Amino acid sequence: MVILGLWDGHDAGAALLMDGKLIAAVNEERLSRRKLEACFPRQSIATCLDLARITPRDVDHVAIATRDVAKTLARLIPETRERYYQIRRRLTPPTLGTRITHRFKHTITQWPGFWGTDILNRHLVKQELHPLGLGDHPLHICPHHPCHAATAAWFSGMSDATVLTLDGVGDGLSGSASLLSDGLLHPLVTIGGRDSLGLFYEQVTHLLNMRELEDEGKVMALADYAPPCADADNALLNLFKVEKMTIRGRLHGAALVHYLRSVLWSTPWERFAHMAQQTMETIVEQWASQVIATTRNNQLALAGGVFANIRLNARLRRLGGKCFIFPHMGDGGLAVGAAALVQRQRQPHTPIQPLTHVALGDAFSHDAIGSAVQACGFPAREVANPAVCAAKIITQGGIIGWFQGRMEYGPRALGQRSLLAAADQEGMRDRLNLALKRRAWYQPFCPAILEEDAPKILLDYDGLCNPFMTMGYHLHPAVRSKLAQVASIDGSCRPQMVRPGEGPFYDLLKIIQSTSGYGVVLNTSFNLHGQPLVRTPREALDMMRQTPLSALIIGNFLVERPS
Ligand SMILES: [Fe+2]
Repeated sequence: MVILGLWDGHDAGAALLMDGKLIAAVNEERLSRRKLEACFPRQSIATCLDLARITPRDVDHVAIATRDVAKTLARLIPETRERYYQIRRRLTPPTLGTRITHRFKHTITQWPGFWGTDILNRHLVKQELHPLGLGDHPLHICPHHPCHAATAAWFSGMSDATVLTLDGVGDGLSGSASLLSDGLLHPLVTIGGRDSLGLFYEQVTHLLNMRELEDEGKVMALADYAPPCADADNALLNLFKVEKMTIRGRLHGAALVHYLRSVLWSTPWERFAHMAQQTMETIVEQWASQVIATTRNNQLALAGGVFANIRLNARLRRLGGKCFIFPHMGDGGLAVGAAALVQRQRQPHTPIQPLTHVALGDAFSHDAIGSAVQACGFPAREVANPAVCAAKIITQGGIIGWFQGRMEYGPRALGQRSLLAAADQEGMRDRLNLALKRRAWYQPFCPAILEEDAPKILLDYDGLCNPFMTMGYHLHPAVRSKLAQVASIDGSCRPQMVRPGEGPFYDLLKIIQSTSGYGVVLNTSFNLHGQPLVRTPREALDMMRQTPLSALIIGNFLVERPS
């Protein structure tokens, strides 16, 4: 059975599930080159079909996520989606109109769908599918939070777990708790859109003059630069409380924004960020603890944009059990969730295969890479072993672009489209942040580490491999100063753990291990801040032109900057 999953909102995309196996998944931003693109994902659909070498006739079902009023309006009048995209990304100047649109969007996203939106959605989505040869296929419109829950539960590899979802708002809800038991999902409780912790954190991001739904990681990084704040002194903590397995907000909508503004007025930015982060961690931990007390299962499966917050995830991991976070935890992962829901509905006895990697996007042939390299104008040559070549440049202090195999799905670069540098070279973080990535100085970088080295690098390593960079750990004191370039100021980090069998990226880390004692490299996404990850050889070569990258290793080619 072939199921095409779709998502046509913030970070739109498509995914193909074949007999329970995720074959391909792509987000539209990589194709349109507009970060977190919001549109009907036509290019992603074509790419997924190409990657699977099938035609629209081979697809059995189409599944799309979300049926609420805001989504229906965006499908009915796509210009409203584009207008909000321009406002959210701060591409238009602030006017009374933008403020009203912003407020209106936040209000209507809390209105759930009903029979009328179902009829309209079915008609509008079919209209989009017809020109693609998919208009006559059975169409399923799947609810937002069950889609998130499906990604967390069924791709985790666990048969029993407590499944939590938390985000801004989708289908009138901001969260849910379910029990995964013998592979079946049993809903327990939902959290209303008005009581959204995700929306609260978005508002904090917006008030700090950053882009909501995009720069929340910057808020988390900024929070590290404030001194500790006692709960009694945190004026944001009383905004939420946990009640009967759900979360309740004290203030909503305009009243919440007004209160946040009044606190920010007399609070330094970093302290405000710290208070928001503390609030998020404390409330979610209380909520998760209450749910676990009911389910009696402390194995957690998590999805929804809130779980992009690795400090929160680390706190939940300390509740004791295994903790899986779907790697594309935000709305960009909804296409996979929609496909999985329909798969389980149609073939309940066909298991969904656990996610072991996210190399689900485009790959380019040796010839295609060779043609792009020949035309680029930089000195280039073929090398026998890309890993040996990369390790040599990195240990000499160079920053390389690393382009290998199929593109990653999700927000993290995991060794397919990465920028790599030495993790133990002083000044590397500033060099990368300020000269190359053009990001704020306080944003930390992450390490990719050999899984076998995790026990001696990570103080709180629990023996469970995290290959997707979704969890925070603390560096062991013995390596803290050596690896300061890949840690936050409190010594925490967000590592990708690399296992044998991961091709040249594993080989590269083994070579670095043999020379430095630790298989660690600084690994950041192959893009400029605010742009999507590079997809094609040409985009990688363009970035080499725009930045002071030392070299690019692309397939078996080494492209060097003339000295
Ligand atoms: Fe969501």
